Amino acid sequence: MYEQVSHSLLNEILDELKPEILKRDLRHFYTRLGANFYAIHSLFHLLYGGREDFREQMIRLVEVMAIQYIKRSNELEQLDIEREQNHNWFLSQEWAGMALYSDCFAGDLNGLRDKLSYFNELGINMVHIMPILKCPEGARDGGYAVSDFRDVDPRAGSLDDLSQLASSMRKRGMLLTLDVVVNHTSNEHAWAVKARQGETKYQDYYYIFQNREIPDMFEETMPEIFPETAPGNFTWDEDMQKWVMTVFNDYQWDLNYSNPAVFIEMLDIILFWSNQGADIIRLDAVAFLWKKIGTTSQNEREAHLILQLMKDCCQVTAPAVLFIAEAIVAPVEITKYFGEDAIIAKECEIAYNATYMALLWDAVATKSTTLLNRGIQSLPDKLDRATWLNYVRCHDDIGLGFDDADIRLSGYEPHAHRKFLVDYFTGVYDDSPARGRPFGFNKKSGDVRISGSLSSLVGLEAALEKDDPDEIDLAIKIILLLNSMIFSFGGIPLLYYGDEIGTLNDYSYLDDDHKATDSRWLHRPRINWDKAELRYQHGSVEQKIFDGLKKMIAARKSIAAFADFNNRELLEVENPHLFAFLRTNPDRPGESILVVGNFDDSPQYLDLSKLGNRGIFEYGQIRDAYSGESPNLFKDQLVIPPYHFYWLTD
Ligand code: GLC
Repeated sequence: MYEQVSHSLLNEILDELKPEILKRDLRHFYTRLGANFYAIHSLFHLLYGGREDFREQMIRLVEVMAIQYIKRSNELEQLDIEREQNHNWFLSQEWAGMALYSDCFAGDLNGLRDKLSYFNELGINMVHIMPILKCPEGARDGGYAVSDFRDVDPRAGSLDDLSQLASSMRKRGMLLTLDVVVNHTSNEHAWAVKARQGETKYQDYYYIFQNREIPDMFEETMPEIFPETAPGNFTWDEDMQKWVMTVFNDYQWDLNYSNPAVFIEMLDIILFWSNQGADIIRLDAVAFLWKKIGTTSQNEREAHLILQLMKDCCQVTAPAVLFIAEAIVAPVEITKYFGEDAIIAKECEIAYNATYMALLWDAVATKSTTLLNRGIQSLPDKLDRATWLNYVRCHDDIGLGFDDADIRLSGYEPHAHRKFLVDYFTGVYDDSPARGRPFGFNKKSGDVRISGSLSSLVGLEAALEKDDPDEIDLAIKIILLLNSMIFSFGGIPLLYYGDEIGTLNDYSYLDDDHKATDSRWLHRPRINWDKAELRYQHGSVEQKIFDGLKKMIAARKSIAAFADFNNRELLEVENPHLFAFLRTNPDRPGESILVVGNFDDSPQYLDLSKLGNRGIFEYGQIRDAYSGESPNLFKDQLVIPPYHFYWLTD
């Protein structure tokens, strides 16, 4: 019944569309709109059904989808059709990604185009270019404070440069990932400027309050994201003489998604970037999309409804495009961003695996895999058509958001354990070679996170200073070990630019007033291309890391069991320094690969006979698919050298 009502509404809406839209060939659009309209209408109604202008807004929503569909190029529409037919395409093991800033990596977008062969050399075929949308000069949060959602920041280049880059990448079979900062705008965005000038239409785009009454109620339960640099969640605006909700920095105004006009604008923007050639769109800070007094205003049900609606609408206009959820939240919450109660992903097809990332760092500091094993056991299953973005480092800090219960079950006291980790990675702890810095210290809760580059956190910076070849080698081993874990886990591995050549912390941010208080700039370096050339010098640090990763990427791509079809079995091994799991070829269940990593600085052994009757290995014949060599075995006991990993197959 409801379905019928929504379809008759669909017909009415189509009748009311602007005549220039109706002149176009809309066959595919109509088919997809018909298939998704019931869901779109229901979700839009759930969110905005109580409003008088609901119908008008609904028409506007369909219009936006239709207009962007008309603007989509034939080439992209062809891709839509191909990916609709092969809808699990992104679960394949053939993808390997890198995240980077175009300016720090290559000067600008044109420079980046000149570097495409570098990605080919390494094996990278998915590139996440961090925000390139227009931002103010100083208050920009690394690009996450956007002042114009429809233009490229002149420092990165132009829309034309982007389109050339996108087409060169497509020719090389590479995926382009772009950011859309959906949760907030810069206070210099035209909407904020108009709001400040008193236009109520635009004041309604944000959460703006006359006095502290409501802000104070929110503050009772909302945590602080940047407690040191931007305490509280509201900022007083002198011009308006009002309070604005600013969850992140005081210059980042939170968008008000209870206003359908905001939803429609942001959908239009997502589709705009899809039409510029983005294969994947990273949706920033999705956990924060809905605010509610009395809650943390994170992970609210409506935030999920908004994402489902965005996905369904994108499915109509640009079905080739995938979403990445940037939701750095508790493990049980993260998996919900794939889409709750859906058999296939109905929100974001991809989500950052922040849990795995933080657990791997725990294993590095403790040399024990107890918490890592427990944390992964507690990670809820994900949907079939969904995948992780597995990473070791990214442009943000490392948060220690493990589950307290898991920490306790691993034999630690949560507060003391987190303190140990911070001390370890910031080098306060004796014997720690790490060179990180604290980030986001919260005086009230005592919480703190960690900044630092991969190489400096695993001790390479300290080892190079000491010029100690053994310690240098050890650090390189840890770098490769950590990467081996993200390349084999299931999901898309995402390298962070510079890590492939062992780039150390960059302390120059301390000289820049706009950056000095944000230690995340420690690990946002400019690539030194002379140093990158050292990858061709046999025996150099750069060569060892680069070639190690290159080999790893090539091996990954050839191992069908590394595709992500929920085909991973965590192995309970008795040794607390080992992390081991089995990956099985989804098409050939008899074909498996055993992944095992030793996080300790001394050799460890694994009793293969205790792995149960999995019938995969003739011990005499096993081979490491990464090195091509046979591992060290004593009878059926596998010996794993310090900080070593194996990808074992027979
Ligand atoms: C995301 C980004 C981070 C930024 C924040 C606010 O978490 O990754 O860098 O500071 O959003 O936009």
